[in-house]
Amino acid sequence: MSEPVNASDYLELAAANVDPAVWCYFEGGAGDEVTLRANTGAYGRWRFRPRMLVDVSEITTATTVLGTPVSMPLLVAPFAMHGLLAADGELATARAASALGTLFCVSTITTRTHAEIAAAGGAGRGGSSCTS
Ligand SMILES: Cc1cc2nc3c(=O)[nH]c(=O)nc-3n(C[C@H](O)[C@H](O)[C@H](O)COP(=O)(O)O)c2cc1C
Repeated sequence: MSEPVNASDYLELAAANVDPAVWCYFEGGAGDEVTLRANTGAYGRWRFRPRMLVDVSEITTATTVLGTPVSMPLLVAPFAMHGLLAADGELATARAASALGTLFCVSTITTRTHAEIAAAGGAGRGGSSCTS
């Protein structure tokens, strides 16, 4: 794969780079994966409407989530045990979310303390964390 361009590409890259025993845990959804299928189906129904000759010099993906400004309508959902995926665990996720100006919803089941995660995320460019 040259350059990942969509969620499926990233899924493929993750599957190729994560220990299969660990990947078994992360690749699934909860229960019978009803919500996972519903979410995938919902995103599949979105369509981009092509518009020609429109002024795009001042566009933004920035919005707010529960009053908190974010750079884009994309957040990191809470999921457990990031340390199984990377040495820095949730610290790396917090740094990434913060650098991109979005929110990282921290699981209660983490491989770093919440204080460490909060410190790693810092104020960033508007990114911060919530707990689930
Ligand atoms: C591997 C895995 C671990 C998860 N761990 C947590 C968790 O620790 N805390 C939590 O609140 N949700 C956890 N979730 C649920 C996700 O945050 C999310 O709610 C779920 O994937 C469905 O996404 P949705 O919010 O778009 O419906 C986990 C999901 C997965 C797939």
